[in-house]
Amino acid sequence: MTYKSLSNTGVSIPEVGLGTWNYHAGVEPLRKGLDAGALFIDTAESYGTEMVVGQAVAGVRARVFIATKVCPEHFRFRSVLEAADGSLKRLGIEWIDLYQLHMPNDKVPIEETLAAMEQLVDAGKVRFIGVSNFSVAQLERARNATRKYRIVSNQVRYNVVDRTIEADLLKYCQANGITIIAYSPLARDFQSILDCDPDCALAEVARRTGKTIAQVAINWCLCKDGVVAIPRGNSTAHVVENCGASSWRLTAEQLQFLDRSIRWRRRGPMETFIRSMLPPPMKRALGILVQMLPRGLRRRFK
Ligand SMILES: NC(=O)c1ccc[n+]([C@@H]2O[C@H](COP(=O)([O-])OP(=O)(O)OC[C@H]3O[C@@H](n4cnc5c(N)ncnc54)[C@H](OP(=O)(O)O)[C@@H]3O)[C@@H](O)[C@H]2O)c1
Repeated sequence: MTYKSLSNTGVSIPEVGLGTWNYHAGVEPLRKGLDAGALFIDTAESYGTEMVVGQAVAGVRARVFIATKVCPEHFRFRSVLEAADGSLKRLGIEWIDLYQLHMPNDKVPIEETLAAMEQLVDAGKVRFIGVSNFSVAQLERARNATRKYRIVSNQVRYNVVDRTIEADLLKYCQANGITIIAYSPLARDFQSILDCDPDCALAEVARRTGKTIAQVAINWCLCKDGVVAIPRGNSTAHVVENCGASSWRLTAEQLQFLDRSIRWRRRGPMETFIRSMLPPPMKRALGILVQMLPRGLRRRFK
């Protein structure tokens, strides 16, 4: 497993971590992922997976980099402190390595939220502060609001078919030494990636490199400076396979071939805004409807 620097902290983290949103496979696949070198697990208070993560790291906790997140409904000062205590308890650990604001919440001043995050660092309950789903403008506001500690990471959607962050956020983070933690590196349901690859370019590169399609897709993310990825697998086979996305690199020619062949897209600001306003049940219903569309149309809505 290759490690990458976490911002300018002096700490390095595995370039492939274990995502746990919608994870329901128990302790074993996570343990096998740790054995395969992915000593980095991402969870959140809202995922309902902090307990299984805690069980998976029992006995090896000090070697594992544990990232979790506080929900936007808990961004008031006292609520942040309480949420962190809740996560620590569910995880059964004494400190959180990376505590992330799950998504922006304009209703609470970011200064208030970050003051609580900094207090958690002072108390030794949190090592590093990160954010998730923050735009450049939101990240700048957050960075200006910290007093003692830096924002070290931004966890955002990034994969070979959704390259929205390349418009500005990726460059901004690279220029400012903020690590990008790429979530949904397999486009959330894997079939989405295949939908956008009508000429089977990923399969062709997989054949040439002796890797699998999933490994090629994850490695595509890892080829970018300052980017680590957190695929989620619900089986030992998937988790271990995904760890094999590390410690090798696609060539420049293979990257260009994928860039030319895959029907990747960037979400525009209006689409991003509308998506952020949709309530989760409506998002789920739309997701089901999109699955029923023919492949050519389906990929436009991913
Ligand atoms: N911060 C945020 O707002 C946010 C949002 C979304 C996700 N995340 C984080 O990012 C993590 C990963 O993103 P994600 O859960 O959206 O999805 P993902 O990792 O992009 O894709 C998961 C899907 O790919 C399948 N898969 C995994 N490995 C595979 C393989 N080797 N071959 C074929 N299919 C494979 C999984 O199937 P199985 O489940 O059957 O293995 C699942 O259907 C989450 O778990 C979470 O930790 C964060």
